Amino acid sequence: MSTSSNKKINTFHLLNKQSFMLKEKRNAGFRAAEYVEDGMVVGLGTGSTAKHAVEKIGERIRKEGLDIVAIPTSENTKLLAEDFKIPLTTLDEVKKIDITIDGADEVDDEKNLIKGGGGALLREKMVAFESDYEIIIVDPSKMVEKLGVEFDLPVEIIPHWKSSTIRRIEMFGCTSNIRMHKNSIFKTDNHNYIVDCSFDGIDDPEGLSKQLNNIPGVVENGLFIDLADKIIIGKKEGFEEF
Ligand code: 5RP
Repeated sequence: MSTSSNKKINTFHLLNKQSFMLKEKRNAGFRAAEYVEDGMVVGLGTGSTAKHAVEKIGERIRKEGLDIVAIPTSENTKLLAEDFKIPLTTLDEVKKIDITIDGADEVDDEKNLIKGGGGALLREKMVAFESDYEIIIVDPSKMVEKLGVEFDLPVEIIPHWKSSTIRRIEMFGCTSNIRMHKNSIFKTDNHNYIVDCSFDGIDDPEGLSKQLNNIPGVVENGLFIDLADKIIIGKKEGFEEF
């Protein structure tokens, strides 16, 4: 484990999330909210892009009487959804999710993702896994040729015996930092830690994801493979989607 990040990108994202590429994020979020229909169970993602979709869904409920229930992927998104008076449910109450709208930290051409910059990757992956249709909304800076060159891969680990888990993670060729918040170790909504892992690009995202999840102290990792169905890239004016 190293004491300072090689890339610093994750910290950059955390600090600048609210203001960076505001129009692009809003255009992506608002477009994604158009996919939501009456009667749907909707997964609500976490982060500064997903928040625009939550806002628009709230507006559609208020103005159009859109009739949905939603499952938030974090405590922050739950609070936001409550502010917008979006009816909420949980994964214990429903058997499947019709559509989920979430952000990402990196997206490649195959629609594989790195997520977890906001620390919500575990619930985000649980929700994505149960979703019939996963829409990922990003600004153009998130599109990459290869995952893991610029952005450190977040891995959620059990706090107990963390050094042994981190040693195992680093055997896959990364250096890592335990994520901090102010002067303390950052804790996820599930009371775990996040290790940000700096790779020199990830050659085999699917293989790495499986290997990381085989380490007993690892709860989940931020590689989302074959989970995204549609990517919406917000632009200053409008959007592109594929
Ligand atoms: C949170 C996430 C976010 O979706 C990701 O970090 C993107 O956030 P933002 O839209 O604020 O850039 O994975 O765990």
